[in-house]
Amino acid sequence: MPDVFNWQIGRNMAYEYEANRPQRQVAWVFDTNKCIACQTCTISCKQTWTWGQGQEYMLWNNVETKPYGFFPTGWDVRLLQMLGPGGWKDGIYQGKTVFESATSDERVKGWQPESEHWAYPNVGEDEPAGATDRGTYVPSIPHDVWFFYLARICNHCTYPACLAACPRQAIYKRPEDGIVLVDQARCRGYQECVTACPYKKVMFNNVSGTSEKCIGCYPKIEQGEQTQCVTSCIGRIRFAGFISPPGKVDEKNPIDYLVKVRKLPFLRQMFGDGVDAAIETYKKTKDDPSLLGLQMLMGATPKIIHQFKVEKETAYGYDADGKELVNVPLREPTFIRKYFDDANNVYLHNIT
Ligand code: SF4
Ligand code: SF4
Ligand code: SF4
Ligand code: F3S
Repeated sequence: MPDVFNWQIGRNMAYEYEANRPQRQVAWVFDTNKCIACQTCTISCKQTWTWGQGQEYMLWNNVETKPYGFFPTGWDVRLLQMLGPGGWKDGIYQGKTVFESATSDERVKGWQPESEHWAYPNVGEDEPAGATDRGTYVPSIPHDVWFFYLARICNHCTYPACLAACPRQAIYKRPEDGIVLVDQARCRGYQECVTACPYKKVMFNNVSGTSEKCIGCYPKIEQGEQTQCVTSCIGRIRFAGFISPPGKVDEKNPIDYLVKVRKLPFLRQMFGDGVDAAIETYKKTKDDPSLLGLQMLMGATPKIIHQFKVEKETAYGYDADGKELVNVPLREPTFIRKYFDDANNVYLHNIT
């Protein structure tokens, strides 16, 4: 098997195919701290892409409550149990990847969900970990009782497990934007991709007999638009854009700035050991104009922001040609309404 460099785990690993970088890679950043689990993203994706027969159960975007929420049931803990303890040392992952753990009769280590595992997308919703005595006051972090909302879509992986697993080579990564798609004409329904995806983001359609997955809203990306799940997000927690290849950084690109300069989107279990530094950076956002500006630009325009700057208490977003798309003040201005409007002889405050 070819040896490829995986920058997420800081080392080389075995993969089914040679490394093949797209010309550019679409990427999403989610600020999980701001998500309110309203599921507007889930429904907007569903109404757009998965309203047909055989797609009834499919949620290409879903939002689950961690630690007890899963769709399908137990998707993450089952795989972690199969892989065994991993661990990190000096920024390098010490455990085995899903490719390195595979036995001689499989391409990727994985788990195939049964239909019942797809039946409870709301399992664990709003259920916290731990318990406290009645009247307990929680003065400091970390709290004894916690939960958080985890919004999930396909990651359009650099080394997709779904693509590696398919014996038909029916899954491909688009060279122009890195979006991973299932070729519906080639697919024969082997479902190796469903078993292999560590995030369980490929789903089988019993009516068409083929597998389907998040298409990265490619018709929108091609038009310079952010995806449905991003533009519909009530909490404005999401950014879609393009991330530079490993080793390259464009500090004006909002995705690069969040991922590579400030290293924010890490969640320990899923993305590695950068989470502690990321939390410390995030906690200082209110005193950090660049980060605060990026927060304000999230959800501020349906267009893809290629460059940004923060100047004079205002955040600006630009398209690929440098044209301004949007500007947002870092702090909402305060207006104090007069108590009485002399011109119209009317009270402006509620006096009841
Ligand atoms: Fe990666 Fe899974 Fe998406 Fe394939 S379906 S690109 S393995 S997240
Ligand atoms: Fe659905 Fe598009 Fe979001 Fe993918 S990118 S989850 S297809 S809305
Ligand atoms: Fe969270 Fe936004 Fe989805 Fe609502 S629309 S559940 S805030 S990601
Ligand atoms: Fe391949 Fe998955 Fe179809 S393994 S044949 S893309 S169901």
